[in-house]
Amino acid sequence: MRSLLDSLYFPNKYLRFSHGKYQVLLNTENCRSRKLLEHEYAYFNKLLLLKQDSTRAAAVQWIEENPDAFAFVKQMIVSGMVSMKPFVENKRDTVQGKPVSTYWGVSSRCNFRCKYCYADCGAPVPEETQRYLTVQEHQRVIDKIKDHGFSELVFTGGEPLLNRDVFAMATYAKQKGLFVGLLSNGSLIKNHDVEQFKTFDYVKLSLDSIKEEENDYLRGRGSYHLIIDAIERLRSNNIDVHIGTVLTKINKDTIANLISELYKTYTIKRHTIANFTPIGAGAVHAAELECDLEETGRNDALIRETKMKLSKKDFHSILNDKAISEDRHVCCGMGNSEIFINECGDVYPCRMTYSNEYYLGNILTNDMAAI
Ligand SMILES: C[S@@+](CC[C@H](N)C(=O)[O-])C[C@H]1O[C@@H](n2cnc3c(N)ncnc32)[C@H](O)[C@@H]1O
Ligand code: SF4
Repeated sequence: MRSLLDSLYFPNKYLRFSHGKYQVLLNTENCRSRKLLEHEYAYFNKLLLLKQDSTRAAAVQWIEENPDAFAFVKQMIVSGMVSMKPFVENKRDTVQGKPVSTYWGVSSRCNFRCKYCYADCGAPVPEETQRYLTVQEHQRVIDKIKDHGFSELVFTGGEPLLNRDVFAMATYAKQKGLFVGLLSNGSLIKNHDVEQFKTFDYVKLSLDSIKEEENDYLRGRGSYHLIIDAIERLRSNNIDVHIGTVLTKINKDTIANLISELYKTYTIKRHTIANFTPIGAGAVHAAELECDLEETGRNDALIRETKMKLSKKDFHSILNDKAISEDRHVCCGMGNSEIFINECGDVYPCRMTYSNEYYLGNILTNDMAAI
């Protein structure tokens, strides 16, 4: 145990966000993040005593005498919050602070009321209270994103298709050379000429289960048919469709099947599974929806296996992506490579930290470097 403690490496800096009942820690050197409950956060603070010569001996003694503390140290290594010295050194400074993706919530309104929605779409925003940017303003936002070095712009919300300027914004962003995505609940796609969606490099739709009743329980009655219709429309016009699924207790046993079926039927080659995060409307349903660690672990393994199998064909999996260089970490981009902007141009580290506490400035009035 002593030699393990001696070889622990701590990054220079962690970022910490409070998030419902959790403290979220981000290791700024390898971009790994982890949610800690209050008692785990207290353990983490004791662990930091290992860093100082003056407090190190007491911290070592505490860990040696406390099996829970040692188990916690091992969990922190596995999750990348601390590292073993030999593995970390050649990986430092490779991703820190490089802008990659901007998520732009161009409408805080939504026509759905998904049970888990972190965007708090349980509370409808009347159209008259939502302030949209003018054409000149949204072009300035895009110019600033591009000039600051971001390469991808993703339109999200709420439901981004409720902002009627979204196609014009996407066209301008494409002209500026950005890679442009749309995240949508899919329900309004039928109201548009399908050709218009070719403006986007990809359209990512949210679908939680191949079983209609599971999906509709989470995302609202009728949503399954709307989304399947949207997938069919887009795919039959050769538009690249990605799927996003939120892992909850309701759909945990059918996700692997969903990935395989969508690949088989619609050639969906990119499918991301997000862990349910208990914030916004989701906080109210956390007890019912949130998987425990064991369920999450089992599901991760099954999904990994399913994706690896499909990636032998042409399914995309970051697990064997040759385009990702050896030293590039694949992880949460909050605080490093991603930002979130709301419909008025206010900037936050991520959509999950959308509150006054984390407000970074307004992209139209503040300098991007300062933000
Ligand atoms: C907030 S939505 C905005 C775009 C669009 N309305 C949609 O549903 O795709 C973006 C993504 O976040 C997911 N999401 C919403 N609430 C979540 C939560 N509490 N935890 C994890 N993912 C969540 C949605 O399922 C969706 O895939
Ligand atoms: S997840 Fe998307 S579709 Fe569902 S309520 Fe939230 S913003 Fe609307």
